[in-house]
Amino acid sequence: MVVLLVIGSSCSGDDKEARRRAAGSNPTPAAFARVADASRGRAIFGRCAACHTIGKGAPDNAGPNLYGIMGSPVAHNSARFGYTDALRSAGGVWTEDRMDRWLTSPQRFVPGTSMGFQGLQDPLDRADLAAYLKTQG
Ligand code: HEC
Repeated sequence: MVVLLVIGSSCSGDDKEARRRAAGSNPTPAAFARVADASRGRAIFGRCAACHTIGKGAPDNAGPNLYGIMGSPVAHNSARFGYTDALRSAGGVWTEDRMDRWLTSPQRFVPGTSMGFQGLQDPLDRADLAAYLKTQG
């Protein structure tokens, strides 16, 4: 019985722990990006989908459409969306590093943002999600 449980748990998990080890000790966002899994990121995007669409030309929701977001200028992805001044004045483009900090805690990265999302605590989840975003655009 114990053996079966052990086998069961190792089969039901994905390769997350192996990927975490492969990222090395003290991994940077770039190191996590090398082991990221876009298909897992697609599942994580379910937590964003309450407020964001990602299809090309899809309408904004509570948040702006995110098609092609990686590498695009901050607060410019949707011409129609009413961004906060806080996000508008952040400047720059959505690099891996910035996306990682944003997804860790939107409020800490851009105080005053209207994105009501508490953040993803696992750096591998953030890397998987960014890898998925990269495939959409
Ligand atoms: C409760 C609604 C909500 C959830 C959930 C949410 N967002 Fe947002 N998001 C927003 C809003 C609102 C903004 C605009 C923020 C502003 O203008 O300050 C935004 C902005 C963004 C932007 C900036 C877009 C641009 O054009 O620069 C990115 C990137 C983003 N969200 C990614 C995500 C991701 C990835 C997730 C899932 C982990 C997520 N969001 C979850 C509401 C949400």
